[in-house]
Amino acid sequence: MEIVLDRRSATPLYLQISRRITALIHGGALPPGFRLPPERRLAAALSVNRSTVLAAYRELKADGLVDAHVGQGTTVQPRRFEPLEIGSVQSFPWSQALARAPQPQDPLVRDLLELTERDEGISLGVGLPAPETLPVETLRTITDRLLGEVGAPLLMHSPTEGHSPLRETIAAVLAARGIVCSPSEVLVVTGSQQGLDLVARVLLSPGDEVLVEAPSYFGGMQTFRAAGARLLSVPTDHEGMRPDALAALLERHRPKLIYTLPTFQNPSGAVLSLERRHRLLELAARFSVPILEDDPYAELRYDGTSLPTLAALDRHGHVLYLSTFSKLLAPGLRVGFVVAPRLVIRRLVLAKQIVDLHTNTLAQVVIDRFIRDGHYGPHLERARAVYAARRDAMHEALQAGTALGVTWRKPEGGFYHWCRLPDGVDQSRLLARAAAAGVSYLPGQPCFAEEGGAAFARLAFSYAPAPHLREGISRFLTALREVAAEPAAAERDRNGTRPLV
Ligand SMILES: Cc1ncc(COP(=O)(O)O)c(C=O)c1O
Repeated sequence: MEIVLDRRSATPLYLQISRRITALIHGGALPPGFRLPPERRLAAALSVNRSTVLAAYRELKADGLVDAHVGQGTTVQPRRFEPLEIGSVQSFPWSQALARAPQPQDPLVRDLLELTERDEGISLGVGLPAPETLPVETLRTITDRLLGEVGAPLLMHSPTEGHSPLRETIAAVLAARGIVCSPSEVLVVTGSQQGLDLVARVLLSPGDEVLVEAPSYFGGMQTFRAAGARLLSVPTDHEGMRPDALAALLERHRPKLIYTLPTFQNPSGAVLSLERRHRLLELAARFSVPILEDDPYAELRYDGTSLPTLAALDRHGHVLYLSTFSKLLAPGLRVGFVVAPRLVIRRLVLAKQIVDLHTNTLAQVVIDRFIRDGHYGPHLERARAVYAARRDAMHEALQAGTALGVTWRKPEGGFYHWCRLPDGVDQSRLLARAAAAGVSYLPGQPCFAEEGGAAFARLAFSYAPAPHLREGISRFLTALREVAAEPAAAERDRNGTRPLV
């Protein structure tokens, strides 16, 4: 199977791979029943990320050309349609009917989520809570009781704004974070990812500029890009956004929005200092730019002293606050919330009606009951103890990386170690080598809106238990040592193409 990739082409690598395999299937070179190479092998042979091959195979599967079964791999399917002949039945040409995507969509997030479903290797790539911390039994008891007592209404529609008692409960939870708001200023959303999308829908028009941290949360940046926004990066250090650079960008661009994660930033773990929090609010007021504060990790502090949220410090009503129960309770329930002035809430509600009418009724009622019955505080305490121990285990394991030139700061909370790798490491080889060794992580590049990221890796300590974390870091460092010892990619790849499988 011959596949030559053109790395200078604007066509994403995964599409180049899927198109080449499609041509081989149509040309008869890969007959029905032919087994495609395992993703990991093809990825290593082509020197691409495993997620790239995964995405290519997914395209082929969507086109009905291959099928995948556990234990049997990915095999070419019998032809369902004959080539075009007068009078023959044709499948509808969906690829022509689909509207052009506004931006090339990065399959990375989808692929990382898919990897979590596969029970292969050690995942340091996903920012998921520890499955062991999810309060399964309590949620089951509450759900059973509610379904028994309340019954059918829990399975019916509910208001777009959110289940009223939950909005009250969220306002009370937020009071503990120093945020004073009324339930009418709270919108329940289907995960904070939807909050990002709704804010983008009501605030942004194509061509608007959004300031984001460098690095920032890739899911947020993807959402703003999909809304047609241009992203401008604000340099950061371990205390978050640098105010001098922020002031200069605000002065020059007058952006439409500042997107920030001030507490246990994803991916860097940085915490914006109190002084910078005040300065950011002052600058936002001076240049009259709203701030979107994305704060999923606020309650996941393991040491040090909490700082007030921007929303709590805001005196001018500049801050839209976004948070979620995904990291603290259960991501699959898909319940998050936005706090905003009523005028903005009204617009967000109209946008949400179009997207999904309302957030899952049962999940909202169950979460409300969970908090009202007093389970939330003890649950958070247990979860924090688990994450603090995992963070320490990963920090210890990473010590072996200092000899290789790996540097990082131990975060005081959140889910991630953000590591700077030695200069010149080829990330795509490292990712492939780590995947072959059975460990996944998030490379830095997708976390930067502009240039940068090649020297960074985000390693999540939240998901895997401590022994797996130690083993995962050991495999990661072995892969790094091997890749660092290899000749530079530029030398191997002088003419921009790569050899075949
Ligand atoms: C900063 C940030 N915002 C938003 C999200 C999305 O979370 P949710 O599951 O609530 O959609 C995540 C998840 O990783 C995140 O880290």
